[in-house]
Amino acid sequence: MFDVWLWVLFGFAVALVLLAIYDLTQRRHAILRNYPVIGHLRFMLEAVGPELRQYIVTDNDEERPFSRDQRRWVYASAKGQNSYFGFGTDNNLNQTGYPFFHHSAFPLDGETDGPIPCLKTLGEWRNRADAFQPASIVAISAMSFGALSSAAIVALNRGAATARALHNTGEGGISIHHRQGGDLVFQLGTGYFGARQADGSFSMDRFVEAVQSAPVQAIEVKLSQGAKPGLGGRLPGAKVTAEIAAARGVPVNVTVQSPARHRAFDDVHGLVDFVEQLAAASGKPVGIKSAVGDPRFWSELAEVMAQTGRGPDFITVDGGEGGTGAAPLVFADHVALPFRQAFPTVRNALAVHRLDERIVLIGAGKLGITPDGAMAMAMGADMIAVAREAMLAVGCIQAQKCHTGHCPTGVATQTPRLVRGLDPADKSVRVANYLLAFQHDLMTLAHAMGHDHPGHITLDQVSLSDGHGRLLPATDSY
Ligand SMILES: Cc1cc2nc3c(=O)[nH]c(=O)nc-3n(C[C@H](O)[C@H](O)[C@H](O)COP(=O)(O)O)c2cc1C
Repeated sequence: MFDVWLWVLFGFAVALVLLAIYDLTQRRHAILRNYPVIGHLRFMLEAVGPELRQYIVTDNDEERPFSRDQRRWVYASAKGQNSYFGFGTDNNLNQTGYPFFHHSAFPLDGETDGPIPCLKTLGEWRNRADAFQPASIVAISAMSFGALSSAAIVALNRGAATARALHNTGEGGISIHHRQGGDLVFQLGTGYFGARQADGSFSMDRFVEAVQSAPVQAIEVKLSQGAKPGLGGRLPGAKVTAEIAAARGVPVNVTVQSPARHRAFDDVHGLVDFVEQLAAASGKPVGIKSAVGDPRFWSELAEVMAQTGRGPDFITVDGGEGGTGAAPLVFADHVALPFRQAFPTVRNALAVHRLDERIVLIGAGKLGITPDGAMAMAMGADMIAVAREAMLAVGCIQAQKCHTGHCPTGVATQTPRLVRGLDPADKSVRVANYLLAFQHDLMTLAHAMGHDHPGHITLDQVSLSDGHGRLLPATDSY
């Protein structure tokens, strides 16, 4: 017995010596050359840092992008559990911009268990053949098959079907996993995936084919997104599996690039023409999605729409706090306005021509938590699109590894071993539960404020903390 342990110790010592020799001779990591063997601890701790911070160090409101309280609320809602919090708030109510909703002395009674319909009809202002009133004010925001796994897309699509919410395909085309019964918004990014020629330019024939092949209810032309505005995207060849290639209309195993700008148009008039061509060919309402940068674009778009009576049926405004599969830090942190500044830029430009009353405004950017969603509606959003909150409902733990392909929960990866862990049947129920619980919460808040629909909440019913113990009317800020 003693001998065995001696051998184990000897083996361990030899392994350490070999590791030390490797560390001293390698040239990639200075820290290992300087601190052989022990330097590995630093890499191990760095690798598990987010998890350690999550479980041990941070308090309920510290973590970003979603705090522990926010995630707990999504998880509990998704599991159909009690999502109430006990013992009162642990938030600092004095943070700058912290919203307070004015409850009414005469609140309304009533419960809502189903989806809340949008107050406007999508496509009405341009009389599109297939104009419709969305059954749910909450939709699943664009996330492509490629950024997300097949199992995650299936769970989202089935969940959307149950909750009667729209499910945006993201810019990766319409895959078989998107065809599980949920109504789709087909997104066209600069790569025109699912509707492109071999050279990457837009193909109207393929577009019409794609629309007719699936329950597409609307089209969204993506100009930009909050986390990486003004940038294209790249899907490495290793991730372009046969299924992903089929959905996108690209060759298997070859890296695909989506350019920074559209090839189908060059300016605002061209954009409006493109929108009208898509609508004419498909009969569907057509919208655009964008983050907000140069404000002159929005004034010009509104002017062209007002003058010509043509243009998008809806606009999705993505806040700079939005998520993505992968983005350079400077873009995620410093480009594009946050939602609360971005949305009024668009709304006010449209309001000059009263277009804000006619087209549907969709907000995105961390709005899937009730106070933020309610704030967006008070600011004039007709609908809310949720991406990462829906990922949380599918089981995401905010490991922030979407860009590595090693998502531990199988949500944002194409690695079969990791995807296998995600059961779409179970998780689709969670998606539906979350979508409905969120709307239930929004309606409960609306009732407390004396309204029968969250879309009736107005900015003059909201005050914001100025961070110094005083309150500002939200109407002064936005
Ligand atoms: C994994 C992932 C993939 C995304 N892919 C797309 C995309 O293909 N097209 C797009 O317009 N936005 C994409 N987005 C942005 C979301 O649709 C959404 O606008 C943004 O994350 C803000 O919503 P959230 O705060 O609820 O996540 C993606 C976001 C994530 C997290």
